[in-house]
Amino acid sequence: MPNDALSVLDNRTGKTYELPIVDGAVRATDLGKIRTGPHDPGLLAYDPAFMNTASTRSAITFIDGDAGILRYRGYPIEQLAEQCTFLEVAYLLIHGELPRAAEYHDWRWQITHHTWVHENVKKFMDGFHHDAHPMSMLISSLAALATFYPDARENRDPGHRTLQMYRLIAKVPTLAAFAYRHLRGQPYVYPDNDLTYAGNFLSMLFKTTEVKYGPPTALERALDVLFILHADHEQNCSTNAVRAVGSSGVDPYSAVAAGAAALYGPLHGGANEAVLRMLRAIGSAGRVPEFIRKVKAGETKLMGFGHRVYKNHDPRARIIKRMADAVFAATKPSLLLPVALELERIALADDYFVQRKLYPNVDFYSGLIYEAMGLPVEMFPVLFAIPRTAGWLAQWQEMVGDPEQKIARPRQIYTGPAWRDVPPRESRR
Ligand code: ACO
Repeated sequence: MPNDALSVLDNRTGKTYELPIVDGAVRATDLGKIRTGPHDPGLLAYDPAFMNTASTRSAITFIDGDAGILRYRGYPIEQLAEQCTFLEVAYLLIHGELPRAAEYHDWRWQITHHTWVHENVKKFMDGFHHDAHPMSMLISSLAALATFYPDARENRDPGHRTLQMYRLIAKVPTLAAFAYRHLRGQPYVYPDNDLTYAGNFLSMLFKTTEVKYGPPTALERALDVLFILHADHEQNCSTNAVRAVGSSGVDPYSAVAAGAAALYGPLHGGANEAVLRMLRAIGSAGRVPEFIRKVKAGETKLMGFGHRVYKNHDPRARIIKRMADAVFAATKPSLLLPVALELERIALADDYFVQRKLYPNVDFYSGLIYEAMGLPVEMFPVLFAIPRTAGWLAQWQEMVGDPEQKIARPRQIYTGPAWRDVPPRESRR
């Protein structure tokens, strides 16, 4: 019996099976070989919400949730946030290595020169209702980009794939800023090629009558760091959506739109919006104990706390907390900051949260930073989607090139009626 194998005794038949263990995993398809007879379709692995199922091999992002570790391509998130720009990190995610000077120059040039969108994009943006949620506008306009680039369907060609990745990483801030300006009833601002990725985005958001917008340095750097922290997070809900939708062979605009749709949910990218709404509803630090009581009674959730994989601390939350101080020094301090600090203080000392390993996640402070920058809560998931586009594309590219991947198609355990006749129409009236 090989050491790296799992011996399974099927008590139903008395047969034993040996399932090879490779990289700490057994193949679910090997379970399918365990049958009670020729008509048995084989044993299934039942895993709602993918709690313990690896859906892919991936060389992009490593997380050790218990130790609070996050690495992109082996580099610790703390070092990347300190020493790199978002565009370097985006290159790293997609190409596997940090760019050398000439590679970075070319990458930056490509991203900068694909930021413009077709004028028709403005027309359909204009068609949205005046108070349309900007995340819905972003999701729709990402999907709509596919109509401008029919060549994107040729995604078996690496050259085409690279071109679509330039376009998507470059255009997502433009679409996001257009959605914001639409919400504000303000004219769209065209991209400024002289500015950095984050600086250009701030310009497209906030430029008014000035000839040239100069992004405030503290905000530009904070945004760039927030982009780095949000760029990828291995097989989370939205990345899984991108991979699953992309596995059908669809163009990357449609796959990324699916990821953005998944990100919109309050349990995922909508969490920082939910945090701000929660902090506003609490209103003052004095009302925090009553709120905590409600959380413990199961009447509400402490948004921005807890994570599917981080059960010690979220390393991104620590970096963001430090970043928040720099932003608040450059802007008005948030009136909600004392509420957040009091919530964190009480929750971290309370048995309910300690026992369940609930710690502040990346979204607990990011909302406060975005609010201090002058952005409405509706923009928070949009700000998450911008950098995550680089991660989604890195994951999509890896999936497309992975010979083990096929169209994603989970199995089910059917629990409905076995068989029945349709009653005559008269009896159903
Ligand atoms: N507030 C109060 N209780 C919580 C919270 C919370 N934020 N999160 C989890 N719990 C409790 C659950 O009620 C459960 O308690 P029980 O054992 O008594 O039933 C226990 O902690 C375990 O929680 P699960 O829901 O099983 O944990 P799971 O890993 O499935 O959920 C999730 C993770 C969705 C992030 C959850 O913690 C949550 O809803 N948090 C608030 C939303 C949020 O901040 N999301 C952002 C995540 S980060 C991101 O997407 C970038």
